[in-house]
Amino acid sequence: MNIILLGPPGAGKGTQAHLLVSERGMIQLSTGDMLREAKDSGTEMGKVVADVMARGALVTDEIVIGLIREKLQGDKAGGFIFDGFPRTLAQADALEELLEECGETLDKVVAMEVNDEALVARITARSTCGDCGEVYNDITKPIPADGKCSKCGGTEFKRRADDNEESLKTRLMEYYKKTSMLIGYYHAKKKLAWVNGLGEIAEVHDEIAAVLDA
Ligand code: AP5
Repeated sequence: MNIILLGPPGAGKGTQAHLLVSERGMIQLSTGDMLREAKDSGTEMGKVVADVMARGALVTDEIVIGLIREKLQGDKAGGFIFDGFPRTLAQADALEELLEECGETLDKVVAMEVNDEALVARITARSTCGDCGEVYNDITKPIPADGKCSKCGGTEFKRRADDNEESLKTRLMEYYKKTSMLIGYYHAKKKLAWVNGLGEIAEVHDEIAAVLDA
């Protein structure tokens, strides 16, 4: 099964993708993670995207489509979770073509509904494990008291350069201007299902599981 997790910054896409990976053996394809990896390892492409990402703007369709194309050629395991991709209509069209080329289809698009106040609160309190990328939150999912990641035991935690109120304003605006129209696009294709992203992490997970198993 191949799915898209669709939602604004901080909706919980990464958190829910990690749960699906461990429970269903699916493969998370997060373009945000791929771009941060390129930035941290100092590749040419990483240098190009660093400033764009820090501001909260979208990087070019060409770059992210290229990243996804590469990943689709690898192991398919329990199916792909597209997290943070597509974000424009051009990316959505490209995804359809890429899946077709490798004999796959898109099964479901899960849209996560969260209000803007919750997004700001979540993003400004987020940190991630520097080793495995497990997502934490100062308020709702704090780093364990022993200072070790509950998933891998890592002791280094990072905060993202774009997790500040200024960049978040741009990220939200980019979402409403360029990404939110994908809701209509996938509704028309009869792939869309809504979940309430405001519940507890486990409750949101149960709603997503119900959508996938329906
Ligand atoms: P990306 O990394 O994709 O960031 P994003 O879409 O802004 O989403 P986030 O990762 O911030 O949030 P999330 O929904 O995964 O939430 P999370 O689970 O972490 O993109 C970053 C940048 O890369 C973009 O701005 C752009 O520049 C570039 N980019 C990436 N893809 C691109 C593309 N396709 N095209 C062009 N440019 C692209 O949760 C957030 C916090 O909330 C955490 O602390 C978590 O613990 C907490 N939380 C999660 N769920 C709950 C819950 N139910 N209740 C309480 N707290 C919760």
